Amino acid sequence: MREVEEEVARCRKCSLHATRRNYVLGEGNLLAEIFFVGEAPGAREDATGRPFVGRAGELLTRIIKAMGYTRRDVYIGNILKCRPPGNRTPSEEEQKACFPYLKRQIEIIKPRVLVALGRVAAVNLTGEKTSLSAMRGRIHRFEGIPVVVTYHPSYLLQRGEPRELKKMVWEDMKLALRIIHGEV
Ligand code: URA
Ligand code: SF4
Repeated sequence: MREVEEEVARCRKCSLHATRRNYVLGEGNLLAEIFFVGEAPGAREDATGRPFVGRAGELLTRIIKAMGYTRRDVYIGNILKCRPPGNRTPSEEEQKACFPYLKRQIEIIKPRVLVALGRVAAVNLTGEKTSLSAMRGRIHRFEGIPVVVTYHPSYLLQRGEPRELKKMVWEDMKLALRIIHGEV
């Protein structure tokens, strides 16, 4: 993981290196059973170099706790290691340039389940290019590792955390837990 970090630290594979303040490699337990994958660092992440530390991060932390874990038990990363200016959706080229780093992180952690948070993570991990709702509720695979797709915490916040959406996310997390416990 240190090698991956060293490469990310000097990476110039896409233009985002020029506008970032800090890269955000990801953090957590190298022996994690569950690996959460977001989209890209936001303002707070860019300022601190840590994943999911803003408002969306607080919500993700609550989800992790509801599952019976702490942030130290799990691993949290992103498709992109550098913040897109203004939090725009990363381009296909940027995603393609950065994805190999996440792939290596997944190969190092070897989690029992990957949780794709939002469509960008879901498309990259499932290879499907449909809507998020079409990708939910099924077990996908990335290099043999089960992948569960759910809504991004930022989307929940943006929508005002409606009960129906929270219920769907919780169903997705229950599916992830069943995979970890070998029940499906
Ligand atoms: N949103 C993401 O997708 N990733 C982060 O690290 C923070 C917010
Ligand atoms: Fe390199 Fe990824 Fe940063 Fe682009 S976003 S410069 S590919 S580390």
